[in-house]
Amino acid sequence: MVIDFPTYPSGLRLAGRKVVVVGGGQVAQRRVPGLIAAGADVLVVAPVVTPAIEGLVGSGEVTWAERGFEAADLDGAWYVIAATNDTAVNTAVGDAAEARHTFCVRSDDASAATAWTPAVGRHGAVTVAVLGDRREIRDSRLTAALRDRIVERLQDGTFESAPHKRVPGVVLIGGGPGDPNLITLAGRKALMEADVVVADRLAPRELLGELSPDVELIDVAKLPRGRSAQQEEINRVIVEAALAGKRVARFKGGDNFVFGRGYEEIIACREAGVPVTVIPGISSPIAVPAIAGIPVTHRGVTHEFTVVSGHLPPGHPESLVAWDGIARLRGTLVLMMAVENAPAIAATLVELGKDAATPVAVICDGTMPTQRTVLSTLGTLADDLAREQVKPPAIIVVGDVVRVAHPEA
Ligand SMILES: C[S@@+](CC[C@H](N)C(=O)[O-])C[C@H]1O[C@@H](n2cnc3c(N)ncnc32)[C@H](O)[C@@H]1O
Repeated sequence: MVIDFPTYPSGLRLAGRKVVVVGGGQVAQRRVPGLIAAGADVLVVAPVVTPAIEGLVGSGEVTWAERGFEAADLDGAWYVIAATNDTAVNTAVGDAAEARHTFCVRSDDASAATAWTPAVGRHGAVTVAVLGDRREIRDSRLTAALRDRIVERLQDGTFESAPHKRVPGVVLIGGGPGDPNLITLAGRKALMEADVVVADRLAPRELLGELSPDVELIDVAKLPRGRSAQQEEINRVIVEAALAGKRVARFKGGDNFVFGRGYEEIIACREAGVPVTVIPGISSPIAVPAIAGIPVTHRGVTHEFTVVSGHLPPGHPESLVAWDGIARLRGTLVLMMAVENAPAIAATLVELGKDAATPVAVICDGTMPTQRTVLSTLGTLADDLAREQVKPPAIIVVGDVVRVAHPEA
């Protein structure tokens, strides 16, 4: 009776040790990079190899014996992978490995192998390796799925790979355009590690529900109103919390440096001697059109795209925008914070020479369940916005890329 013993897991330290891979196809191509990363001295034995393996041979990272397998190839080897699509060759490799007491993985027949390859993932100094001891588990995608779930949770900080010491200071985190899946891994991790989170209205709010109950959440919408007063209050709150030894996450929609006043917070921290770091976010002027299926550039259509804040109308004494220059540009114009002033901006652009038929797309609530796109032109934008009752937040894309995405309009 054959007893189905479980495997004995072990981490092989292969640096500088000979490892032989027999076969030069897809399986070998998938295994060789991991062996190189472990520092192994890799010999590939195969009459033919894939272009990717040939590249590794060319760069001197592996040695290639350009021929069929010979038992003597395994002399001095610590580990062997039989990865040909010929069972007879793999069996010969397995037999030669057995005779030399060398562990051998087989791509064709796990039951004939003396070692199995786990599903491997890494995060920092932790290696996650998942093995299925029973055949139905090995043959399913369960081991890879488990590996992915463990690594994801290590990456996003929802469980720690090592006891974690919180460093006091401020981190500016760009939360992306709204969908909680569109924050970066680094942003999510930093958010989960914070003691205090200072969040804006446009920051992906669903992520706040995942914070641990002991985290202090400060909603910026509840701080005193008025553009300067509110910013001064935010600066004061983040600096004070950091000076009290807390790890503070300043959490905003998109990217903190794109019309996000992030640099004012950097200056306030520096003046107070508070350490501050920045984690960029996916910014809405690119991400929101993309999610709505509109590219901000397209070959042969536009060689530039320009992002402009429309929070002040053309002609406003405080406006820093040269609308005459903008009207002369031929590429894509992306307007942010412009719903209120869009009629005035469209009229000015047409007065300054833009074609009234220039296509426009207004994308509201990008990446949110309520996302919608209103198609228009510069000449009809005012009427279309009023008829469709468009409300912020919205990204307004002006230019021929809208026609590329919506030729029907
Ligand atoms: C104060 S700015 C902040 C921009 C943000 N820091 C970024 O990088 O995306 C707010 C403007 O960004 C745009 N915006 C941000 N998120 C949006 C979204 N999900 N859908 C549409 N527009 C968005 C709107 O034009 C809104 O008025």
